[in-house]
Amino acid sequence: MKDTPINYQVVTDKIKESGLTSIGGATIREIKKLIDQIEKATGEKFIRMEMGIPGLPPAQIAIEAEIDALHRGIAAIYPDIYGIQELKTEISRFVKLFLDIEVNTEGCIPTVGSMMGAFASFLTINRMYADREGTLFIDPGFPVQKQQVRILGQKYYSFDVYDYRGDKLRDKLESYLSTGKISSILYSNPNNPSWICFTDKELRIIGELANKYNVVVIEDLAYFGMDFRKDYSQPGQPPYQPTVAKYTDNYLLLISSSKVFSYAGQRVGMMVISDKLFNTQAPDLLRYYKFDKVGQAMIFGTVYSISSGTAHTPQYALAAVLKAVNEGRYNFVEVVREYGAKAKIMKKIFTDNGFNIVYDKDEDNPIADGFYFTFSYPGFTGDELLHELMYYGISAISLAITGSERLEGIRACVSLIKREQFPDLEYRLKKFHEDHPV
Ligand SMILES: Cc1ncc(COP(=O)(O)O)c(C=O)c1O
Repeated sequence: MKDTPINYQVVTDKIKESGLTSIGGATIREIKKLIDQIEKATGEKFIRMEMGIPGLPPAQIAIEAEIDALHRGIAAIYPDIYGIQELKTEISRFVKLFLDIEVNTEGCIPTVGSMMGAFASFLTINRMYADREGTLFIDPGFPVQKQQVRILGQKYYSFDVYDYRGDKLRDKLESYLSTGKISSILYSNPNNPSWICFTDKELRIIGELANKYNVVVIEDLAYFGMDFRKDYSQPGQPPYQPTVAKYTDNYLLLISSSKVFSYAGQRVGMMVISDKLFNTQAPDLLRYYKFDKVGQAMIFGTVYSISSGTAHTPQYALAAVLKAVNEGRYNFVEVVREYGAKAKIMKKIFTDNGFNIVYDKDEDNPIADGFYFTFSYPGFTGDELLHELMYYGISAISLAITGSERLEGIRACVSLIKREQFPDLEYRLKKFHEDHPV
């Protein structure tokens, strides 16, 4: 039996019992379940990097506002489906102060997390034109969004942006858009899983092509302001979080509260529809809705049908925290900066022990340190590496499920790792390196 940090036999048995044919093909939830079982059987704690959940306490201002709203009896009342006015006003202010864009409050709509925001967007936007097929994903990406498109019976296209950074992005995008089949483009920025951040040049290319081909850009800002190389935390002052909204009016932004305000459990996010898109008339929408105007179809058709709006008290929570942020009383970026600090140390522990960072650059600049990073080890596919790392008490997910073509790669999420675990991480990676000399 091999001498590995986690009992070799137990890990082997648990992997077998899980029935998973490949660890690399497993979903995040499947990996989580498997690790839970190995931890239980061995009593050993893993370095758990598989799930992207916040590792910080929720914003206190939000909690207090929500409790207050509950005490005021708000829970008994149906919220308006387009959102409470205080929140709509603060969202509109937030995008003005932190993105430097103007959006009317009617297009600022709370959703049940960005998860619902994305679902509602695909559902509505991909039905604007009968002759189009669906979404183009600029990958790597968040796997469940493709599932959302699939379960809607829509089509999607995707490509790994790794080889198409900078000017090369234009021709690549155009090769899809010129087919006339694409109704929307989706990407996250900063990117889950690779933590690449598009440069202004790349956002300009995306925006210009969205104009040329009349395609809606769905920009997923789940990690708003978390490119810590720049300070995006000062309201109304540059630099602003980069956004495609600077280069096109044909956009819809998804801003999650899960990571920036550590509010994942309350499932509240923001959808921000540009004034132009909100008022766009697309007669093909009448196949599904009573309205041909995008904003009305989205609110009174889609959001109403899916969930009848967003839970009432989390809207008060989000309104309160945004108000504090907008007034400069709460620096949300400072609070989450710890993720970047941990990533910097963890990436060094990995690279000191023979590992490589897979997505390592934004054009010519080294990638930022943040919520996620990607790594590989010479001679291993991502699937083999994930499997082998189980014996060393380290869990993550394969890039293969994210649309990445870097099949040697694995995504690590730093959020749940405590600094006290760094010595363990170091010991385990050292042992891995010794056992697998390069
Ligand atoms: C890129 C991306 N989009 C959306 C989400 C979902 O956000 P929410 O919790 O607001 O539904 C996540 C969560 O991990 C994410 O990484």
